[in-house]
This record gives sequence, structure tokens and C-alpha cells, in this order.
Amino acid sequence: MSLLEAQKRVLSGMRPTGRLHLGHYHGVLKNWVRLQHEFDCMFFVADWHALTTHYEEPHVIEDNVWNMVIDWLASGVNPGSATLFLQSKVPEHAELHLLLSMITPLAWLERVPSYKDQIAKLSNDRDLSTYGFLGYPLLQSADILIYKAGHVPVGADQVPHVELTREVARRFNHMYGRDPGFETMAEEAIRKLGRKNAKLYRELRTQYLEQGNQASLEKARAVVQEQQNISLGDRDRLFGYLEGGGKIILPEPQALLTENSVLPGTDGQKMSKSYGNEISLREDPDSVEKKIKTMTTDPARVRRSDPGDPDKCPVFKLHEVYSDEDTKSWVRNGCTSAGIGCLDCKGPLIDAVLAEQQPMRERARQYEENPDVVKSIVSEGCEKARTIARATLEDVRSAMGLDYR
Ligand code: TRP
Ligand code: SF4
Repeated sequence: MSLLEAQKRVLSGMRPTGRLHLGHYHGVLKNWVRLQHEFDCMFFVADWHALTTHYEEPHVIEDNVWNMVIDWLASGVNPGSATLFLQSKVPEHAELHLLLSMITPLAWLERVPSYKDQIAKLSNDRDLSTYGFLGYPLLQSADILIYKAGHVPVGADQVPHVELTREVARRFNHMYGRDPGFETMAEEAIRKLGRKNAKLYRELRTQYLEQGNQASLEKARAVVQEQQNISLGDRDRLFGYLEGGGKIILPEPQALLTENSVLPGTDGQKMSKSYGNEISLREDPDSVEKKIKTMTTDPARVRRSDPGDPDKCPVFKLHEVYSDEDTKSWVRNGCTSAGIGCLDCKGPLIDAVLAEQQPMRERARQYEENPDVVKSIVSEGCEKARTIARATLEDVRSAMGLDYR
């Protein structure tokens, strides 16, 4: 696996904190389902991350783990295209976390915005002044770097964690990617490219290093990529040398910002389990219908004869996700003229949500009835993940000079 191929790898994780709902589907899972066709996707259950806040009740995690995987599968995440696995079954994450902890300044962790926010928000319920909680984002860095993932689909709140990951990777490469003979070895590797390609590589490298010409960098990478007969070590060296520094052992990932579709829950606030306003992915149809029928509407529309304003109505926000243009203008006209009642308005929405959930319920049922199938999907995924993770750790140990026997 070369660095360039690894850049096509997408990795993301989710903490197993309960049943997933429509907000997760529209915010995250739909995106995963789309990405799995374009990239080499790895999706994992971040059960150790759940432990950083739920360490007093670890027994609740197991149930959530399997239900979450079923929710993913129900949403259309396809184990034939994406690798699904459990963090805690790939202990290599923990070793990388430990090694990275040696070079991570405390201040980098303390300034991550979610750290202080979460402590302020949750510290009434539990004590978060733990070592594990402080290390949360670094464990996340290890999750990402151990697969040398190029892209990490996350919501805006997680971007600082990916940023930290980039800084840690840069520091690591700077510290350990530069064996004393690096330059000499890189020059030797260039000569192995053959006269023509060596000349081209040098020209492109100069263009990039002196003028910051991105296109030259990409061309030079392609030259390296096309070489059949050079070793992986030389290849990585040649990639690293292009950017001036040493060998890139842990490539810097990019955040793939998931569009912020904030789906309102039944009370009009953001859909979230903590508000108890969610419609879960596997909610039964009667309950879906009841929840939408009693969902909050434009508060100014008290009587059927009062006109309403869709822009002030959470039900309309759902129409924006679920309905076509015709339906939306039917709502707009009917609402502002009091031509339709709120129950009329909710009718097509109920149909749309139920239609969306129908195939999910079908898929989920198969997995609920065959829990062994779910377990074997995950254990296969864990094996695949471990193979990659082990290889990265070998690189890391050897870069740090820890490969002695
Ligand atoms: N912290 C992420 C969240 O709460 C979950 C997570 C853990 C993650 N490790 C990750 C996401 C690695 C992306 C990549 O949503
Ligand atoms: Fe909201 Fe629809 Fe009622 Fe208008 S008619 S207030 S958009 S539920």
C-alpha cells in the first residue's frame, strides 16, 4: 500500500451511545453510503471513546455497539464495499496512542475546544478530569493515523480533532522521518528512477519547493507512483523528499466536512437523544406517524384559520429534506393562506419518512434475526483493519528505533 493509495482511504468512527435516529441518517450515514462507492472506506465503532465518558457504566456499551452496527447496515452501509470494525478489537490503536502521547504537548490537548466545552457541560453528571478524557482527541488521531487515512468525514465539531491529528503527524514525521542518511538515501532512490525520470523528478521538485507549484508536486508524485521496480521504502522516501522534509510515515489527513443538515426533532430543537425528541431509524410506523402528527408547528398558528409561516415551522424544515418542489410550494401556499391545516401538511411528510424507513426496517430485521451475521461482518472487518494497523505500527516502531529484539 503506497501513500498515494492510502490517501484514497476514508475513515470515520462513531461512539456507540444509543439508537441512531433520522438526524444521524441525514447528517452522517447518507454521506457514508455515498462515499463507500468512491473510496476505500473504513467505518468503526469507537467503543473506547464511549468509555471516556461512560466509564462508570461500561456494561451499557455492548448493546449499543451491536445496535449501532445494525443501524449502519440498515442505512445501506454495505459490508461488501466498506470495512466495518470495532476499535477495541484492534488494540494497535492503543499502542499508537501511547507512542503519540510521548510527543504530544499537553497544551495541544488542553486547547482543543471540545475539551473545555464538554467538561463544562457534563461535569455535573460525572467527573471528566481524567487522563482518558484529556487524551480523547489523541486517541482519535491514532484511529486515523494507524490507517494512514487521507480523508475523515466529520461534522464541524470534530474538525479541531482532525487538525490536531495533522499537527501530531507533522511532528512525528519531522522527528522520526528523518534518519541521518535520509538525504543520501533519497538521492540514491532518485537515481534508481533512471536518467529521464530522475531529471524530471528533480525539476518538478524544485518547481514545487521554490515556487510552491502544486501541479508540479502532483506530477512528480505521479512519476514516482508509476515506477514498478522500486521498493516501498524508496517510494515513501521519494514522496517525502518531494516536500522537502524526511520520509512521511504518517500522512496528514484532511477533514471531509459533512454538510450541516440539522434536522429538527419533534419539539423543534435539533434532533438529539438527549432532548428525547428523536425519531429513530427503526421506529415502528405507528410511532413515526404519532410523533409527526404531534410535532411542534409554527407557534403563531394556533387555530386552523390562522395563516402560518413555514419559515418559522420545524415541520417545514423536514419538508425541505423530504419533499419535492411541488409539495413544498403546496405547503407554502396552503400554510400562508390557511388553505391547509397542519395535519394535512404533515401527511406527505409521514408518507415520505415511512417510505424512507421501509427498506431500512427490512434490512434491520434480517440482521436482528441473525445476530451472528452481524458479528461475522464485524469480525471480518476487524481482521482487515488489523492487517493494515499492524503494518503501520511496524513502520512507526522502526522509525522510532523500537524494532529491536
Ligand atoms: N470523536 C468522534 C465523534 O464523537 C468519533 C471518532 C472517534 C472518530 N475516532 C474517530 C471520528 C476517528 C472520525 C475519525 O463523533
Ligand atoms: Fe408548519 Fe405545515 Fe402547519 Fe404551516 S401548515 S405551520 S408549515 S405544519
